[in-house]
Amino acid sequence: MEAIAAKGLVTTAHLDTFKKIVGEANVLADEEQLRHYGHDETEELLYLPEVVLKPANAEEVSAILRLCNEDLIPVTPRGAGTGLSGGALPHLGGVLLSTERMNRILDIDERNLQVTTEPGVITEVLQNAVKEKGLFYPPDPSSRGSCFIGGNIAENSGGPKAVKYGVVKDYVLNLEVVLPSGEIIWTGANVLKNSTGYNLTQLIVGSEGTLGIVTKIVLRLIPFPKYDLLMLAPFASLERASEAVSAIFRAGFVPSALELVEIDALTIVSRMVDSTAVPVNDSIAAHLIIEVDGNSMDVLMADMEAIAALLADFDAGEIFFADDAQQKAELWKLRRRVAEAAKSSGYTIEEDAVVPRAELPALIRGVKALGKQHGFEAVCYGHAGDGNLHIRINHPTIKNSHGNAEMTAALTSLFELVHSLGGTISGEHGVGLIQKPYLSTVFRDANLRLMREIKQAFDPNNILNAGKIFDLA
Ligand code: LAC
Ligand code: ZN
Repeated sequence: MEAIAAKGLVTTAHLDTFKKIVGEANVLADEEQLRHYGHDETEELLYLPEVVLKPANAEEVSAILRLCNEDLIPVTPRGAGTGLSGGALPHLGGVLLSTERMNRILDIDERNLQVTTEPGVITEVLQNAVKEKGLFYPPDPSSRGSCFIGGNIAENSGGPKAVKYGVVKDYVLNLEVVLPSGEIIWTGANVLKNSTGYNLTQLIVGSEGTLGIVTKIVLRLIPFPKYDLLMLAPFASLERASEAVSAIFRAGFVPSALELVEIDALTIVSRMVDSTAVPVNDSIAAHLIIEVDGNSMDVLMADMEAIAALLADFDAGEIFFADDAQQKAELWKLRRRVAEAAKSSGYTIEEDAVVPRAELPALIRGVKALGKQHGFEAVCYGHAGDGNLHIRINHPTIKNSHGNAEMTAALTSLFELVHSLGGTISGEHGVGLIQKPYLSTVFRDANLRLMREIKQAFDPNNILNAGKIFDLA
C-alpha cells in the first residue's frame, strides 16, 4: 500500500500544546504509528496523519478542537478503524483524533433499560455487559468484536439483527457531543419520546464525524430474547434465493436475521478459517442464513418449519438446522468474516447498496451484468432481509475505486440502477471518502445544498472530517 503523505500543518508549538492537553504518552508521531492510524478496512487506501492524539474525555477533545479550529488544522476522528467507506482516513493530514481511551461503560440503568457509555467501547463488550443483566443491545455489525460503539454511531451501523430490531439510530437516545468550536452539548434527553425542537441526536447519528465528536452515548435497551433457532438453506440459483427473501416476510414472518451469501464468498471464507461447516459444492449457488428468536420455543419451532416449507417453493435444497450453540457460532463466524476473507482474496472494493427488499433479484441481475460489461468479478452477500446487499468486487487491475475513472464509471451505472429500483448508495457503511462521487445519482442539488449548509452551521471553518460525505466547494 502506497502511503499518501501528510501536509505539514502541525508545528512543534502545536505538538507541545497537544502534549499539555492529553499527556505526552498520548501524542503519537512516529512513522509506524502513523501508518497504523492511516488506514481502515476500506479498499487499499493509506493516508498518513501528521499526529495522532488520544484524548481521555470531552474536555480534552474540546481543547484540541478549539486549537485546531483557530489554526485551521484538519481533524479526523477515528474509532477502531473498521470502517468500509474511508470515513476515518486522514486524507488531509493534520490531527487524527482516536477515541480509544474513552473506553468505559459508565452506567447500566436497569430501572430505565438504558446504558450510558463512552465511544471507545467495543460493541461486543457493551453487548455482553448488558446481557449479564438480561438486557439486549441488538445492532451487531460483523466487526462487533473489534469496532467501537462511537464508530457505529458515526455510520449508523446495522448488522444482521437490523432486519427485526432496527439499526443504531433506533437505540440512540442522547449524545454528548463536542462541536468544532470546542463547545460541549447534550443533543437531547434520556427519554423514549422527544418532540422538543430539531432532533439533533438523530442528525449526529450517521453524520460520519463531520459535525461533532461524540464523547458520551445513551442507548435504549430491550429484554434479551430467551431462545433463537438458526438454519441454513442452499439454493441452486442466486436469484431464486433472493426471490425467497421477500416471500418470507409476505408470509408474515419476521426473522431476527435473514442473510444471503453467494457461494464464492463462502468458499473463500471457509478456506480462510479452515471450516467445513457449510456445504460448498457445484450444485449450490448461494445460501440463506435464517434466524428466528423470541421467548417461546414452540412458536419458534413452528416458524422455522413453516419457513422451511415456504423455501421449498423456491427450490431450496436440503436445509441444515444448527443444533447447538457451537454450530450456530461456527455459522455466524463464517458469515461475519466474509468481508475480510474476500478482501484478502483480491475482492478489495466493497459496495453497500440497499433497495426495497423485493427488488433484490433485479439488483443481483444488474450487478452480474455490470461485472461482465466492466470486466470484474462480483460476489454478493449481506443483509438480504433488509434489501441491503454487500457487493465485493475483484478487478484484475483496479484495486481501489477511489480516484479511478474506469471503476467510478462502472459504479455510477450500479448506483443509477439502485436508484431506479428505489434504493440508495449505502445501507450501513456510510459515504465517507469513497462514495462521494455518486451522491448526485440519488440526491437533487437541493438535498446536497441543505447538507452543506448544515455542515457549515456546525463547522464554519470546515476542520472536522472535511471532505467526507461531500466536498464543500
Ligand atoms: C458485513 C459487513 C461488511 O455485513 O457490513 O459483513
Ligand atoms: Zn453488513
